[in-house]
Amino acid sequence: MGAPARASPRLCRLLLPGGAFLVLLLYLSSLRLPELHRRSACIWGGQPCHWLGDLPPNEEEGEQLPPLPAPAQTLDPLLWQTPHPPCRGQHFQIWHLQSAFAASLTPSREVLIGEYLKGWKELTKFMDSLGTAFGLITRETWSKITIMQDYQSGQHGAHYRTLQSMVTFELANGLVNFHSLPATHPPSGCRTLLRLHRALRWLQLFLDKLGSSEGGDASQMCASAYQETLAPYHSWWVRQAAALAFLAMPSQRELYGIICAEKEQHARTTLLATVRIIAHVYNITQEVFSAHEMLELP
Ligand SMILES: *[C@@H]1O[C@H](CO)[C@@H](O)[C@H](O)[C@H]1NC(C)=O
Repeated sequence: MGAPARASPRLCRLLLPGGAFLVLLLYLSSLRLPELHRRSACIWGGQPCHWLGDLPPNEEEGEQLPPLPAPAQTLDPLLWQTPHPPCRGQHFQIWHLQSAFAASLTPSREVLIGEYLKGWKELTKFMDSLGTAFGLITRETWSKITIMQDYQSGQHGAHYRTLQSMVTFELANGLVNFHSLPATHPPSGCRTLLRLHRALRWLQLFLDKLGSSEGGDASQMCASAYQETLAPYHSWWVRQAAALAFLAMPSQRELYGIICAEKEQHARTTLLATVRIIAHVYNITQEVFSAHEMLELP
């Protein structure tokens, strides 16, 4: 009689925090961003994006635009065209992911933002297949993609063709805030891309772990990749929500299924080929941000 009575408060103490996270997570994943639009809340981090739309109207009209780089690939096509048929009846095709990121690099090591965003859209499809708990991360990613697309289709879109031209343009026009993110300004393209860049590192590490280990625990791989990359930038609450999302992930074998490889060895080869392409893009982006001391933009 006494034992259950003593056990239940202990059980409650165990279950309550877990339940609270679950409720938080369910709440967050049930939020719908209205049409993934520019005024969507930045749920991750709990802060509004303060996205006001247009750039400050202090630009000269009709100025000389930088020359447009030729959209060619620096990567040997053999590197990424690993032979695998399209996955039937599936949204995510790893081949699309590879070709978008491969096409985002020009021979002069410029990063084409349009192709980069295309690669990211493929990555969001991959994240969708990791489970509904990743909806939180996917929506945050989409809000960043949307901001970048708005810049690309906006008045100064030509400057947003490559990472390098964007950095030059935003620095020259004082659009990059190095010390704070003022509520009255839209987030700069540099700052927004930096968020995607950090998240890319997380997925790069995760895919690398997934592709290099045999019979590992995918949740564990994803969690440790997160610890090494994004966790330091996130609040305690976001880290708890992320930890829960990792727990609910598919197994490594199921994830191999997502890339439609018949043999595990083939899945690993495909994953590592993808990682190599992403690493090229990541490294060049990192060099650019680092050269301009932009790795910690608020
Ligand atoms: C990216 O940079 C890392 C560390 O600097 C290096 O080890 C790696 O080989 C680079 N990868 C590519 C594909 O450039």
